[in-house]
Amino acid sequence: MKKFFSLLLLLSSCFQLFANEPDSVYLFSYATTKNAGHNGLHFAWSMDGKNWKAIGPEFGFVSSDFGAWGSQKRMLTPYLTKGGDGLWHAVWSLNETEPSIAHAASADLVHWKRQSYPVVSKGNCVNPEIRFDGNSQQFALTWENSADKKIVGCETNDFKTYTPSHSINMTDRKNDRQTVELPEGTSTGLVHRVAWSQVSLLLKTVESKRYWETLNAERTTDDAVRFANLRPLEVGLHIQTGSSKSISDLLTGVFFEDINYSADGGLYAELIENRDFEYTLSDKDGRDKKWISSHSWSLEGSGSTFTIDTVSPIHSNNPHFAVLNTTQVGAGLVNSGWEGIVLKKGEKYDLSLFAKQLSGKSGGVSVSLIGKDGSVLAQTSTGGFSQAWKKWNFVLTSNADVTDAKLRIKPLATGVLALDMISLFPQNTFMGRKNGLRKDLAEVIADIHPKFIRFPGGCVSHGDGLDNIYRWKNTIGPLEARKPMRNIWNYHQTLGLGYQEFFQYCEDIGAQPLPVIAAGVPCQNSHNGGPGQQGGIPMCDMNQYVQDILDLVEWANGDAKTTKWGKIRAQNGHPKPFNLKYVGIGNEDLITDIFEERFTMIFKAMKEKHPEITVIGTVGPFYEGTDYDEGWALASKLQVPMVDEHYYESPGWFINHQDFYDKYDRTKSKVYLGEYAAHLPGRPNNLETALAEALYMTTLERNGDVVSMASYAPMLAKEGNTQWTPDMIYFNNSEVKPTTGYQVQKLYGQNSGDQYVTNNLSVPSSDEKVLKRIATSVVRDSKTGDLIVKMVNLLPISVKIQVTLDAFGNLAAQAERTVLTGKPDGRNLKPVVDNIVTGPNFPCELPAYSFTLIRLKQIVN
Ligand code: AHR
Repeated sequence: MKKFFSLLLLLSSCFQLFANEPDSVYLFSYATTKNAGHNGLHFAWSMDGKNWKAIGPEFGFVSSDFGAWGSQKRMLTPYLTKGGDGLWHAVWSLNETEPSIAHAASADLVHWKRQSYPVVSKGNCVNPEIRFDGNSQQFALTWENSADKKIVGCETNDFKTYTPSHSINMTDRKNDRQTVELPEGTSTGLVHRVAWSQVSLLLKTVESKRYWETLNAERTTDDAVRFANLRPLEVGLHIQTGSSKSISDLLTGVFFEDINYSADGGLYAELIENRDFEYTLSDKDGRDKKWISSHSWSLEGSGSTFTIDTVSPIHSNNPHFAVLNTTQVGAGLVNSGWEGIVLKKGEKYDLSLFAKQLSGKSGGVSVSLIGKDGSVLAQTSTGGFSQAWKKWNFVLTSNADVTDAKLRIKPLATGVLALDMISLFPQNTFMGRKNGLRKDLAEVIADIHPKFIRFPGGCVSHGDGLDNIYRWKNTIGPLEARKPMRNIWNYHQTLGLGYQEFFQYCEDIGAQPLPVIAAGVPCQNSHNGGPGQQGGIPMCDMNQYVQDILDLVEWANGDAKTTKWGKIRAQNGHPKPFNLKYVGIGNEDLITDIFEERFTMIFKAMKEKHPEITVIGTVGPFYEGTDYDEGWALASKLQVPMVDEHYYESPGWFINHQDFYDKYDRTKSKVYLGEYAAHLPGRPNNLETALAEALYMTTLERNGDVVSMASYAPMLAKEGNTQWTPDMIYFNNSEVKPTTGYQVQKLYGQNSGDQYVTNNLSVPSSDEKVLKRIATSVVRDSKTGDLIVKMVNLLPISVKIQVTLDAFGNLAAQAERTVLTGKPDGRNLKPVVDNIVTGPNFPCELPAYSFTLIRLKQIVN
């Protein structure tokens, strides 16, 4: 009875509180100049318009997404007003110089629609204002042009089309910004009168965000405290062998991007750095004065000069070449590879170079591989050169094992000669392919048994500015005719590893090729050739751009005899079609009108001309927010078959979002989780991150009817050359170092299924914290009939598990068990394999912090 009265008291006090809430209050909208204006739109509220309480504070309800990270993405002097359409409209100034204004709208001030940045001014746009005219249903936009101190304005009905800008009288400005005293200091902004429910929603939004931040911050370093009272656990896993659903058989794939020197100097087996003399200052945005055509090359000895020329190159796509002017024979042009050339004793190397004699005697050159001590490891020489470019090919055999050899090219006569495309490849590439891949790296990737390979990125796909968009046609055919380009990660791409090689590798390892192509817009964080996505490919050039994408399908799949691009593929050495089925359009783009127009054009053309291809759209860089919402809305509108989701989050996020896809509508687009990884502070790839991923991957399998593909990102990273961590596989010139996270990907890749088998885990605990740390998934591979049980234990104690199978059928009683375990901070861990006795009912122990996989093989009679 006592309890009942206290409950009544509590309810009545709640009711009173509720009843005493005001109908309306003051709401102050503003931005601060903290963090150079990057913090977005803030709110504060007040009962009397004098005493203000900040909501957050510094909580950004919407942030600017204009231009590059760092210097851009600023929101200055926002102006917020309500339009006749019932929406709140915000405009703001982007920076001190931009002739554009930014606009975004929201119904509730929490969920914001796509942003736009129309170019409306000849000068800059400072202190923008909006006035809504109820009669004309028009918005009048005005701003100050700080250069000539003039007030300028234009009108719009919809924030999509604008009248030409014109001068405005100062008196036509509202000038209604106010400066108020907030707890953290004075701020200037707009005061509005709003319903209390509006403020309540804003407060709850911050509260909910903070709640999730706390949950997502969950770390194993806190486990001693978090699980201080944890008792030994005995759990049950009931596998309903007869109940299953079909899931994607492409779930685990890999994401290849030329980031962290993954291609040149990495997977691409070329041993000569800057073989084409095409390094240029702009590759590194001018930040490295030595990053020029002669980079990695030097002249050793005397009697010659080494210069770079561009007159009559081998191909206009490859304009720079080396010129050696020799007055006295003796000097040699030296390249030390990617900080040393690795050679193996007795192995053969393909050396090639283009040369021509510009003047003087044509004595040719000697070519040597030399050790650090000057010893000659292999040597050959050309004959005399003619005055036209000619390609020379040799095979060199190394007489020693070295990791720091150099290549030396020595003119054998006085005179002036030109050299270009100086290349050295091991013959021992992956599957012995010419212009091939580094064997050890390609094998480690192949070991994952990836069902697909995404390429060429990530951000590399859409590039830093329009000129940097990756164009597949520049990446096929003879190497000297390919068009090298700046890599968005600030180095150089020879494109020797191009579409031709990516498709070949996919074929070699039985993975579906998944090219991802820019949606006619560059990366929203671009800073080259205009900020961000401004502009996109001009619409007058879009027909050709769309045609290039259609041509890709023809190049990959067209008949070698009857189609133009099929013929080209055959000429390039691959008469058989590659059987392309999936094409990604766009990479985590900002979803704007500019994007939508171009994406729609590409999507419709693909649907019409190639309905057999599954087009994968894009829904932004995060698991929520404007691009996610707008991307999904667009995909639903166009009925895009699949969308590419990206999220890099804390292990705690993965632990606390295991139901993420359980809630997905099965009638909408399928999901390609194209980029994901668990990120801890310091960005290690360790057991903690790997187990968070393994745990989450059980949910991907469970939701394999809606999640069709997933790829950890990024995949490769060359030690000492990383732009992004963590990665899945680290390497240097001679070693490959798979991470703990790699082992998880490999176990999933090698143990995939196409049927998800119903399985129920019963844990004798009601503690959510405990329940979220154990996850299981059971799949069946219909090709082999094998049943695969995956179990993740992220608890600090081992867990006894009793596995029950409804029907054991013709499964072998001896099963292979693989266990990956160690300390949460353990890096480069390897799983241990043993055999266990199973049966319809069998016990198993899951060590603390472990991933256990049991493969029950079907007995074939
Ligand atoms: O995976 C690294 C980068 O992360 C990708 O290039 C980009 O798409 C994402 O932001």
